[in-house]
Formats: sequence, C-alpha cells, structure tokens
Amino acid sequence: MEMAAPLLVFVLLSLASSLTFAFDPSPLQDFCVADNKSPVFVNGEVCKDANLAQASDFFFPGLDIPGNTNNRIGSNVTLVNVLRIPGLNTLGVSIARIDFAPYGLNSPHAHPRASEIFVVQEGSLYAGFVTSNLANGQNRLISKILNKGDVFVFPIGLIHFQFNVGKTDAVAIAHFNSQNPGIITIANAVFGSNPPISDDVLTKAFDLDKKVVDFLQAQFGPNQ
Ligand code: GLV
Ligand code: MN
Repeated sequence: MEMAAPLLVFVLLSLASSLTFAFDPSPLQDFCVADNKSPVFVNGEVCKDANLAQASDFFFPGLDIPGNTNNRIGSNVTLVNVLRIPGLNTLGVSIARIDFAPYGLNSPHAHPRASEIFVVQEGSLYAGFVTSNLANGQNRLISKILNKGDVFVFPIGLIHFQFNVGKTDAVAIAHFNSQNPGIITIANAVFGSNPPISDDVLTKAFDLDKKVVDFLQAQFGPNQ
C-alpha cells in the first residue's frame, strides 16, 4: 500500500501534464507524409503509403528569397508548414522567414499551437511578448532589441511582435514546435472578423466610441 502512493502521485502528475500541454502528438512511425488528396479528416493529415515517399515530400526551395514587404505594415512572413512540406506531418516542427522593410512591423500576433524560437539574420529588431493576465491584473511586457545573430523565444499562445528599428531591411528565421503553429493576428481577429463582432461588444471592451470602432473595422475588415 505504502509503495502505491508515490506511484499514484506520479501517474496523476503525468496525466495532469499531458492535459496541460497542447503540443503536437509524437509520431508512431518514422514519418507520415501528408496525403493532401485524402477526403478523411483526422487530427493532422492522413499518411500516404510510406513506400511512395519521395525526397520532394521533405523539401521546400527558396527560403533565401526575400518576401514582398511592400504593404501597409512593411513586413512579410513566408511560412513553411505542413501545407508546403507534406513530410512535416506528425513531426511537430515548421519554419518561417520574416522580412522587414525599414520600420516594418510584424504585428502583434499569437500562435495557438507552438512556441517560437527566432534568430535574426540581418538588421535590428525591437521584439517582445506579453504575459497572460497576472494575479495583480497586469500583463507584463518582456522585450529586447535584437541584432544579427541574436536568438529570442516567444512562448506558446502569448502575444508577440517584432519591429524593425533600423534604417535597413531586416530578416529573421523563426522555428516552431508544431507542423501547423497557426496565427492569430490580434487586430484582424478582433476588428476584422467575418462576420464582425457587434459594436456593442467592441465599444465596451475597448472603451471606444462607436465611430472609432467602425473606423477600425473598416481598416481591418475581411476585405482589407
Ligand atoms: C514571427 O513571430 C512569426 O511568427 O512570423
Ligand atoms: Mn510569431
């Protein structure tokens, strides 16, 4: 009986941790190349016959090519996830290249399914993330100026951003511990949902005049 108690605690702790963390599940075979044509819905993608796997299933060319930053925010994310490399299915990783024009911004966003580890290749970025609500009701900003070669981590689910504070272009590579990290761009999700969130909700939540809410909805609406 006495031996059973530590075992029970261990089992309960293991169960609790598997319920707490929402990382991609571990693979049960060497690989499971996504069969993009399968009509079957599963958590992830259906595997194609392993004997038919090719090098091209594990390959994506061109991450040396800069993304087009000629847009309102002056940044561009080239995300290479399972949709672009079918061989990433079940492996729990993906990668992105982020380009910044001078003063370009990767807007505040969160990844619901991945932490991100980010390395600056060129330029200087002001980068940070905000904690979830603390016991004192505050949200703490953890931020830093990053230069070439610097690595920074953005924990899973937390809102983060990068802003090019230099006069030259900047570029970074981000790695994710999910085949499909997902992205929630805060301004678009809140002010640009389709259909829109009711003005009554947004005016109250953000303590804004209805005119301002309508303006923001026009800025971030689904057709922008
Ligand atoms: C950077 O944070 C990115 O997710 O592109
Ligand atoms: Mn990110």
